[in-house]
Amino acid sequence: MGERIPETEAIVDRDLAEYYSRLAKKYMKIPCRRVLYKIKAKGIDEGWALDVGTGPGIFPISIVKAYPRLRFTCIDISPAMVAVARGNANEFGLGGLIDFQVGSAYQLPCSDKSMDMVTCINTLHHLQDPIAFLNEVDRVLKEKGHFVIVDFHRDTSRIAVWFFNLLWKWVITRNGLGSESFMESVRSSYSVSEFRAFLEQSAMKRWVLYTRSLEMWIESA
Ligand SMILES: C[S@@+](CC[C@H](N)C(=O)[O-])C[C@H]1O[C@@H](n2cnc3c(N)ncnc32)[C@H](O)[C@@H]1O
Repeated sequence: MGERIPETEAIVDRDLAEYYSRLAKKYMKIPCRRVLYKIKAKGIDEGWALDVGTGPGIFPISIVKAYPRLRFTCIDISPAMVAVARGNANEFGLGGLIDFQVGSAYQLPCSDKSMDMVTCINTLHHLQDPIAFLNEVDRVLKEKGHFVIVDFHRDTSRIAVWFFNLLWKWVITRNGLGSESFMESVRSSYSVSEFRAFLEQSAMKRWVLYTRSLEMWIESA
């Protein structure tokens, strides 16, 4: 995919945040199930969890629906997204179980070694300083805590990018609002070797990194 082209600022417009929320509700069911499967495999069904870059909150909402004994704090840099996510949690009757806050990936609102799990989905490509974020995850996780981080990566085959861009542009957004955002996100993502180097330079010790088509997964080992 060539050099990384950082994506523009986070979504601050409320209408745009609502629009992405509607898309996420419609199309994120399978990705949510895949993250849930990972969490199940790690044996996490209660405790304290943090979701970073939560957007409309669809991932933590689906996790709490499956594991109501998990308590989630979810942060996003965009106040508009946080407002939309709160509305979504209330819609699913989960408002009391999930706390949404405006916050930064570089300053997680948790004390040291307090979290059983950290999730971060489709957000890494927004971060200009991934090592600072990884160090924060390491700081807030309990010794045996787990994390699941997923994002695009720039090593994806051109054919896969072409196919998913077609789907995003012409089927999902119908060449309207946000129709370029898939390509922008992929171009702004990190390559596998870039991300491996970030992990090696960070405080994180127990991790595995692998790719699945468009996605790069980084998990606690
Ligand atoms: C592509 S969205 C993903 C949302 C959600 N995780 C999902 O997969 O549906 C990325 C989110 O990360 C947020 N974000 C970007 N930079 C951030 C930062 N430094 N700290 C916290 N959130 C950030 C954006 O506002 C946006 O809502």
